Formats: sequence, structure tokens, C-alpha cells
Amino acid sequence: MAISAVVGSAVTRVDGKLKVTGAAQYAVDHPIEGVVFGVPVASTVGSGTIAGIDGSVAEKMPGVLGILHHGNSGPLYRTAGGFEPNSIVSEGRLPFSDNKVYYYGQYVALVVADTFERALDAAAHVKVNYETKKPLTRMSEVTKPLGPAHRKYERGDAEAAFQSAAVKVDGVYVTPTETHNPMEMHATIAVWNGDKVTLYETTQGVVNHQGVMAQVLGLPLENVHVISPFMGSGFGGKLFPWPQSMLAAMAARKLGRPVKVTVPRSLMFSAVGHRPLTEQHIRLGATKDGKLTSIIHEVKNPTSMVDDFMEGATGSTPTMYSCPNVKTAQWIVRLNIGSPMAMRGPGACPGMYGLDSALDDLAIKLNMDPLQIRLKNYAEKDESSGKPYSSKHLRECYEKGAAAIGWDKRTPGVGSMRDGNEILGLGVGTAIWGAYRGGAQARVRLSADGRARVASATQDLGTGTYTVMAVIVADKTGLPVERIDSVLGDSSLPPGPMSGGSTCTATIVPAVAAASVKAIGLVLDLASKTDGSPYKGVDAKTLAMTGGRVHKQGESPESGVAFEKLLQMGNLAALEAEAETGGNPDMRNYSMHTFGAHFVEVGWDPGIARLRVRKTVTVMDAGRIISEKSARNQILGAVVMGLGMGMFEEAYYDKRNAKPLNNNFADYMVPTNADIPEQEVIFLDIPDPVMGEYGARGIGEIGLVGVAPALTMAVYHATGVRVRKLPVRIEQLMGSKNS
Ligand code: MOS
Repeated sequence: MAISAVVGSAVTRVDGKLKVTGAAQYAVDHPIEGVVFGVPVASTVGSGTIAGIDGSVAEKMPGVLGILHHGNSGPLYRTAGGFEPNSIVSEGRLPFSDNKVYYYGQYVALVVADTFERALDAAAHVKVNYETKKPLTRMSEVTKPLGPAHRKYERGDAEAAFQSAAVKVDGVYVTPTETHNPMEMHATIAVWNGDKVTLYETTQGVVNHQGVMAQVLGLPLENVHVISPFMGSGFGGKLFPWPQSMLAAMAARKLGRPVKVTVPRSLMFSAVGHRPLTEQHIRLGATKDGKLTSIIHEVKNPTSMVDDFMEGATGSTPTMYSCPNVKTAQWIVRLNIGSPMAMRGPGACPGMYGLDSALDDLAIKLNMDPLQIRLKNYAEKDESSGKPYSSKHLRECYEKGAAAIGWDKRTPGVGSMRDGNEILGLGVGTAIWGAYRGGAQARVRLSADGRARVASATQDLGTGTYTVMAVIVADKTGLPVERIDSVLGDSSLPPGPMSGGSTCTATIVPAVAAASVKAIGLVLDLASKTDGSPYKGVDAKTLAMTGGRVHKQGESPESGVAFEKLLQMGNLAALEAEAETGGNPDMRNYSMHTFGAHFVEVGWDPGIARLRVRKTVTVMDAGRIISEKSARNQILGAVVMGLGMGMFEEAYYDKRNAKPLNNNFADYMVPTNADIPEQEVIFLDIPDPVMGEYGARGIGEIGLVGVAPALTMAVYHATGVRVRKLPVRIEQLMGSKNS
């Protein structure tokens, strides 16, 4: 069946109206009768032991219903880990499990009251005494990393090749601690009914959340119902449950009342994950004409005292560029900070900042064009596995992007391009992200009112999953998108994918397509068997459904009958079909990645020491695009985030108590509208044949990978200053000869 024009068209986000009118219900918006409010008390020390918790003042305050802490709460159980699916938790240590404090902002108590204001007031009156130890907040304070090297990879002899290389780069590249901080803060409303609990959540995985909470609360799976219809995004911070969900459930069970817990903005900087700082030592060896002969990529990142989180920054290094000798290794270091968590483009995003920055340093050394050095080292196949790429059109990304940004007008000299008072700089970065398609179930219902409904226990963190599901049903049934209802964000639906790793679209699309085809098959069968149907007695295999009308194959749809008429004739409210699809077995024979190129133009005005981004151009090779508007939206937003990584974002910790000092949006800088330049996004829109019928690959994360190195190269081109520790700061540029 040919793919129709609705796929990849500019369909308007189907949940858009609900969002802009305020009708969409986020986690805390669900109107729950009798709900009471839990406000966390968080540690004000970075390391130590709780010597005592004095709630005597707080518990007598008006409206206070209870104070939970390690001495009076529980029970909570460990997750099954490898024994059961859907048991991934963010912070391995259960909340309130003992009197130990591992980081500033760790929950030490929860005050529940009848109003939010009363709970907040009472929480401020809980006195916690600590036996305090000096916290570790810098990797330089730790003499030994934890355990042996991880992610070790080697081909050829990278050390020897580096030693004997004609040209060498040896540099340290540092990416900052970044926090996810989505607009919608983490929150949970827990409602018990007997031994069953409903959790109104904001989660990137309702199915995993259900599994984890059942295990932690000691309940059979069906006793936990997770509802998360809309999200104010997550960026990876909401992949897996955090303690606030457990606190809400535990308090609601103890008090016999529905309890709502919201993570305040200040704790969004410590208690719900972050992208850890990376320190990357990179050595490149090359020939005099810029062909890589050696890549050595060694990375250290801090993790918390309670989880071993490794930022997989060397993950793309073995496959990205062509090079016979490659070596990678990673280490983690324990600090008194909250546990890190995957943040949009984890691994590849900081890793490609390091690798592409080192490559640019090589280009500078060789007086080579940054685009040319990337083309010179273009990998035609995956040299880490020897496998062919399923579909790689990165060369076209470079070419189209170069044309759109006007790369041919780039003059190589530092400070050689001007526009009025501004010195211009141009840089390019490469984007790469692994492509994957997993297993999912979906259900499609065709109703006698002429509408279709598609349902799966996946969720839409703002990426467009509602719209993608509707587009696929529209493609198969021929119904307009307006007559299709997408239903998701509910753990009681057929299990669907996580919204993570940029795998959701590629995973849910085949399941929705298969369920649609099955549901259509039921309607054709009905047409062949129902009294009054013009096709009664006709072999269903000779029928088809086009534009929502059942007709004989080879005849026009107008000659047929609308599917809802057939359902009405049969006195059926609806026909519904469910399908389950998995990965494509052929995937294992290929190296599967999404690719792209970012071009950044900056303007540096030395007279007023102002750096700004003037334009970005991004070209994406992401397979077939299913929903053009939501895909473009993903890339636009990710590029803005990449500029944030390059120019603004950095969380930093007080040495005395490990407090994230800039734990608010006044001090933690993110790009604002005034920082967002002209952005252009181009999709190659070439289907990946190994991904299956539609050939769509993921798109949620790759837009961030490669932005920061393109930016720092543009900054160098304008100012002559190489920034190897993000974010770029004006003071680093002030001393440049072009200041
Ligand atoms: Mo993504 S960091 O897997 O939400």
C-alpha cells in the first residue's frame, strides 16, 4: 500500500488546541476531591547524618496532617532490577531509607497539610539537626576515580599511531553541569482506593512508572494505575521515577487522603537529575593533509554517592569519522551531588562537542577548512563494526547546509568577515544519534460515528506523539486527521514505548499501522457479511478501504460505502483491533544512525563586547518525516538548547555545602527569545529502508548534538579565542586581539 501525502505533511499538532487553551491537564491540574499537599523538607548540608528531626512546632501548626521522615515512614521496597521488566528507577536509594545525607537538596522529610501554603509554612518550621561532613563537589578533590575504566574500545594501535603522527592535537574539553529543568516541574498526585493506587504523573514512561511503583509499594502490577496525558516536557529528566512519586504514594497511604507533591523549582537543580559535567582528554593524530590516523578519547564525569551514572560521551567516537586507530575509555567519580540522569542527547551531545572541537583544533593547526576536514574523514561504513549504515546521507547534509548558510563566502582568516560593527564567524558541527526501533502494542477502533481512535500506553512529552499516531491512522484509513482521536498517557492501555532515546516514533508507528490494517480488515469482513451491505457475499479479500469508504479493489472509492454506514447496518458501535510489533530483525545487519549538520554564524561586536548568534542552519538526515511541523519543532527547540549549552548553561556547586548556587532561573542562564536567532531547518526526508515500511528514524535528541562545537568554532573564527570549556563567556573573549 502506497504511503499517502498526509505522511510528512504540515499537519497541525492535534493536541495543540488543548494546550493553548489551557484545557490540557498536566500532572498537578487533575481535580482530585479532598486532595492535600505534601511539601518536601530538603537537606541543607551536602554530606552527613541526620542527628534529629524536630517537628514539634510544625505539627501543631494549622492544617498540618502529618510529617513523614526516615523514622516513621515506609515501607518501601527495592525495585526488581534485572529480574523484571519495567523496573528502572532514577535514584537507586529509596527516599527516607536511613538517616544518611548524600547531597544538598536530598529529601529528609515531607510535611502534609490541607493547603499548599500551610504545608509550605510548616515545612519551614521543621528543624533538622545534622552531623555534617565536608562534601566533595569537584572532581579535582577526588584522587581516584571509581573502579576500572568503562566503555573501553580499541581498534588498531591508537597510542603508537598518535606518537608517530605527523600532526597532533592534545586537548582537554569540558562540558558543564546542565539541568533539564522543563517548564512543568516533576509532580505526583497519589490517590488510594483500598489497596489500589492511581498516580497522576508527568513521566516519559507510564509503563515503566507503573512497574516501578508496583515493586516499590509492594503491590501487584494491576493495582497501580499511572496517568500522564500531557507533559510540560522532560528532556530525559522524566524517563524514570524520582522519589517525589514514592513520597506522594507513601504519604497518601499513611494519611488516607489523596496527596499532591510538586518538586519546587529550586530542587529541580538537585533532586531530579542533571547532565553531569564531562572532562574529556582527546588526542588526535593526522597526516599533513588532515586524514585522521589516531583518535584517543578519555572521559571522566562525576556521579552521585548513590548511583553509578556514566555519561556515555565516547559512544559515537568509534563510528563517527574514518580512522584506523581509535581508543576510548571512561571513568566516573563520586561527589556529593544528586544523581545525574540522561539529558537530551546524552553521551553524544557532550562527546561530539569534544570530538568535533578537537577536529576543529586540527583544522586550525593545518589551516584547513572545518567542513573540508569533516569530508576528508567521512566514514563510508561503520568502522567500529564493519557494518554498512542502513541509510547515511550526511554528505548531503553538509552540502545543503553549506549552501544555505553561505559557507562559500567564508574567508578563513580570523576576524576577516565583517558586517558593520560586527565581526562574523562561521562554524560547522556534526550531529549523530543511534537509531532504534523496539516493541510496542497499539489498538485502533473504527466507530459508527465515522471516527477512529488509536490508543497505546506511550506518552507525548511535547514531541508530537499524539500527532504521529493520528497521521499513521489517517494514512491507513484515509480519514482526515480531524476524525481521529489519539489516546495515550495511561498505563492501562496496551503497552507502548518509552519516550526516550529518540525511539518512540520509530517504535509506535509500525504498531499503529498494523492495528489500523487489522481494524480495516474487520470492516471489510463486515462488508462481506452484513445484511444491507452492497458487498454481502463478496470475498472480503477483493475489497479495500480508501478515504474511509469501502469499495471493490480497482473501482473508485465513490462507488463504495462509508465504513460508518456498514457499522450502522450491523448495529455495531465500533470494531477494534490490537497489534503488537517488534524491531526489524534485519536491523542487526546494519549500523543505524540519524545524521545531521549544524552551521552557526555568530557576530562579535568588540566595541560593546557583545557576542550573539546571528543564524543557524540545520540539515537532518532522519529518515522519513512523519509529521513535518512537530519534527521541525523538535529540531528548532534542540538547537536552542544547544546554544544554551554553548553560551549560557552551567550549574555550579558551593564548596561549603554542595548547594547548587544558581538554583533558579534568574541565575541559571538559558537562552531567551532575544538570544534566538534566525533558524533554518532542512529535512532530507529520505526513508531508511531497514526501519520498515515508513522508514522513520528518531528526531528528539539529535538536534542538540553538534551545535556547541559549531558555535565555538564560529566564535574562534570571529575572535581568535578557542573556548574549550563551556559555556563561552564574554570575559574569555575580552582579551582577544579582535576585542
Ligand atoms: Mo531522552 S535523554 O532518552 O529523554
